[in-house]
Amino acid sequence: MALSAPNTSVPDDGRMLLRGFKRLLVLTGAGISAESGVPTFRGGGGAAVWRGMPFESLSSARMVQHDLPLVWEWFDYRRGIVAGCEPNAGHRAIADAQTSMLFDDLTLVTQNIDGLHLAAGSTDLIELHGNIHQARCLSCNFRQGLNEIDPTDRPPVCSECFDSMRPNVVLFGETLDDTLILSAYEKAAICDVCLVVGTSAVVYPANQIPVIAKRNGAVLIEVNPEETDLTPTCDHSIRGTACEILPRLFSSVTNQQHPAP
Ligand SMILES: NC(=O)c1ccc[n+]([C@@H]2O[C@H](COP(=O)([O-])OP(=O)(O)OC[C@H]3O[C@@H](n4cnc5c(N)ncnc54)[C@H](O)[C@@H]3O)[C@@H](O)[C@H]2O)c1
Ligand SMILES: [Zn+2]
Repeated sequence: MALSAPNTSVPDDGRMLLRGFKRLLVLTGAGISAESGVPTFRGGGGAAVWRGMPFESLSSARMVQHDLPLVWEWFDYRRGIVAGCEPNAGHRAIADAQTSMLFDDLTLVTQNIDGLHLAAGSTDLIELHGNIHQARCLSCNFRQGLNEIDPTDRPPVCSECFDSMRPNVVLFGETLDDTLILSAYEKAAICDVCLVVGTSAVVYPANQIPVIAKRNGAVLIEVNPEETDLTPTCDHSIRGTACEILPRLFSSVTNQQHPAP
């Protein structure tokens, strides 16, 4: 079936695009954190090699088995990079829409591990790839914030079963938590608009979320300065950054609910 070309600019009424919808699913990727200073994966930022080792090998299930202290050293280094980064206007626009209940349902699904959505105050959040600020027990899966763990305690010891803990992040060679991806798919199947922000939409299985939403009749809107593999499928593909576009998109819904006297 031939696809009609998506609208690729913010139309004059672009700020009205989210008006009238009840169930919104937002999917974010590394691009939403770019304006906070977190390097994207394919955007040329970030080191591909650390201490002579490619990061695919450092961030791998194999390395957790082989050298867990080294994995911690690598993730402590990466956490240091994001430690100075603050949530930006894009993260905040989504969090504000959630806390002010602009929609009957606003589920946020992120592929990011940087924790910036939580820092912005997002509530209904699925972190598909985990969170770099948390540790997880190798045996019992108990999770704990690293702010509660002595930074010299590496690898940290689980307070529930005393086994070692690892970073709570999905690594190369690992699959996503079934419960998380299934609940994201369920929300995708029932949303009436799916907003995809700052992802190249190539990483499986997160890239199936907009596909499921579209197949079930949702309007698909993309916010990205570049064209992506998803662009031809979108109803609206908005060329711009998360900080430029998201506050405008959500402010129209705020105005709708609280019209000027
Ligand atoms: N912040 C993080 O936690 C982080 C950072 C890098 C990579 N990752 C991981 O790497 C994988 C990469 O997939 P991905 O699709 O998320 O990232 P990606 O690097 O493949 O793609 C980033 C996308 O963001 C777009 N972009 C760049 N600046 C933007 C901006 N200011 N506003 C909106 N969009 C912008 C780019 O055009 C690109 O399409 C994911 O699995 C993710 O877990 C996470
Ligand atoms: Zn444990």
